[in-house]
Amino acid sequence: MYSKQQIALLNKRTAAFMAGAVPLFPNEQAEELKILIRYHDWLYYIRSEPVLTDADYDALYRKLKQLESAHPELRTADSPTARVSGGVSNEFRPVQHLAAMLSLDNAFGTSDLQDFYRRLVDLTGTEHPHLITEPKFDGASIALVYENDLLVRAATRGDGVQGEEITANARAISSIPLKAPFSEFGIIKVELRGEVVISRQDFESMNESLRKQGSKLFQNARNTASGSLRMKNPSDLAERKLTAILYHISFAADRDGKNMLGHALKTHSGNIEILQKCGFKTTWDDLHRTQDILELNAYIEDWGRSERDRYPIDTDGMVIKLDSIELQQKCGSTAHHPRWAVAYKYQARQAQTRLLKVEFQLGRTGAVTPVAKLEPVSLGGVTVSSVSLHNQEFIEEKDIRIFDYVLVERAGEVIPYISAVNKELRTGHEQPVVFPKDCPSCGEALIKPEDEAVWRCDNAECPAQMEERLVHFVSRDAMDIEGLGRSTIAEFIQRDWIKSVEDIYHLPYEEIRSLEGWGDKSVQNLMEGIEKSKRQPLWRLINALGIRHVGTTTAKDLAREVDDLSFLSEWNEERLKETEGIGPIVAGSILSWFSHEGNRKLLKQLQEAGLSLKSDETAESRISSKLAGMSFLFTGSLSRFTREEAKALVEQHGGKLLSGVSPKLNYLVAGQDAGSKLEKAKKLAAVRIISEDEFLEMIGNE
Ligand code: IVH
Repeated sequence: MYSKQQIALLNKRTAAFMAGAVPLFPNEQAEELKILIRYHDWLYYIRSEPVLTDADYDALYRKLKQLESAHPELRTADSPTARVSGGVSNEFRPVQHLAAMLSLDNAFGTSDLQDFYRRLVDLTGTEHPHLITEPKFDGASIALVYENDLLVRAATRGDGVQGEEITANARAISSIPLKAPFSEFGIIKVELRGEVVISRQDFESMNESLRKQGSKLFQNARNTASGSLRMKNPSDLAERKLTAILYHISFAADRDGKNMLGHALKTHSGNIEILQKCGFKTTWDDLHRTQDILELNAYIEDWGRSERDRYPIDTDGMVIKLDSIELQQKCGSTAHHPRWAVAYKYQARQAQTRLLKVEFQLGRTGAVTPVAKLEPVSLGGVTVSSVSLHNQEFIEEKDIRIFDYVLVERAGEVIPYISAVNKELRTGHEQPVVFPKDCPSCGEALIKPEDEAVWRCDNAECPAQMEERLVHFVSRDAMDIEGLGRSTIAEFIQRDWIKSVEDIYHLPYEEIRSLEGWGDKSVQNLMEGIEKSKRQPLWRLINALGIRHVGTTTAKDLAREVDDLSFLSEWNEERLKETEGIGPIVAGSILSWFSHEGNRKLLKQLQEAGLSLKSDETAESRISSKLAGMSFLFTGSLSRFTREEAKALVEQHGGKLLSGVSPKLNYLVAGQDAGSKLEKAKKLAAVRIISEDEFLEMIGNE
């Protein structure tokens, strides 16, 4: 905005004015003061480098005010004293934007970014288009219209086509110039887009003063910014430390009313430079230019890692824009967003939201889990409205209460969890989480075994547990029965058609056919799904039984070891522990499952219903049994087959794969450059080391 020479000159003029060297006439004095105050506002609000003390600035400001009240004709709309002019309030009347305020499409990682880039190359027909990247601010968007260098209108986004007029509020935001020299660039009418934000430091200091007053604190900077824009009285808004950052020119016309975008205004970066020169706070210092998508990807990730936390304003990503406006126009827009820009979203690590209530859910083992229902909040691209609170100890340790504001965290694919309670936002109306004494489903008293953290319902016939057990039994990793979802199961339980797992195999199909929503086709599908499940491989049945600590991996390990599931009931702990991956806890759980008469009866009933408990008959893709009883591990780089192919070959021929070198291992297949595993295997007499070719010979496959 101001060149070095201008800065030096204005500093001198300020000093002279303060020293008493003032122009003779009041109108000249007022004019000089407006110029000086505008300059010092720019230093303070845009550059963050004030040169005047607050007292000196106030003295200049007071002087201008005095002059304006003594000579009302000197009051102009662009005067720095006229930001909040008494009585003018916002009407929030609907206004039409000059150009639609589209939002941005999101990219959530490298591959989305590459897709965007490929589309750009296609759409523009340009191999290496110039791209500009800048921070994506997490605030409230705003559109400003300047005509003949004066701010004439400000509006919220609204539905993108129509917003609400908030000019009085925008005038009260000190970083928005009331007057800006667009005409120096030949621009007579212009619409700008930007974001109203509160810096992290300002947000802290606002909350600090509320804390001192004992008032309720603001929840987060973004909501505070957007709430502020909707305040009726601009002098209330002026109390808040709002900043506007401008990042886009959506409309520009010259004195003949001709569109300048794509003509005199050729690039996005050029536009930002103009805004910077006109005295706005912009993304200018943070623009990153590149034509190389790999470099861009590295830059974005690096910025997220090293700069984002240090950046004074909350950001939720980076915006990547095509620099050439002509090419932007060639790409065009969908109804919702431009095709020439994308918002790369960083994974949110944390979000704050309100805990609305706690529900108690029963699992298939009878464990009662408290689940927090939250005001929905977006976290790393998904909406979170429900999180597990695990158990009573977790709730007590974190002192979680109903209506608390809680911090929810989620790293990558990890399930979201509550990391802390924001106790500063407590009002005193929060309520403790009270654990039920009785099962929420069957009403039986809950019990808590000494050595466990969870409360359980021990009633084997409890309908909620039964529902969970059945849902697990039919699930994709278990018997994989299509056409039997949770709601159908719930209905069948309610109709008393299912009281136990084996009832699935004796459903009253005729009666089902007469139910609403069922027809011949859906009953046929259900029958086929259930029939098919009888031929599923043994590991699926083992997993489906829902033995605690036995998931798909252990189920597969067991299925490889036993020939018939009913034999498993005769295995003791020692025998169980010989199986890969089974330790004392899993073994104990399997023994306990078989010790229940009801479970043994269930296996029998399933067998009578036509399910096979035998291993060989059910093997999914067994080709031979050449490797039966043998265990293998592959190491080094393989040249005859890939690691996946090697694993499949072992399984198809009845062998077993191990994950490490141990005395349980029979064969180590060593490829090129084998390392530590080979060294370890050499020390173990039981392990035979063979080549890839020797392995292929074993299965008769050369
Ligand atoms: S450009 C036509 N640049 O993010 C393109 N938007 O999710 C205009 N936002 O609605 C938008 N920082 O409110 C742009 N550097 C930036 C931004 C930015 C934040 C907001 C904007 C937009 C939303 C899209």
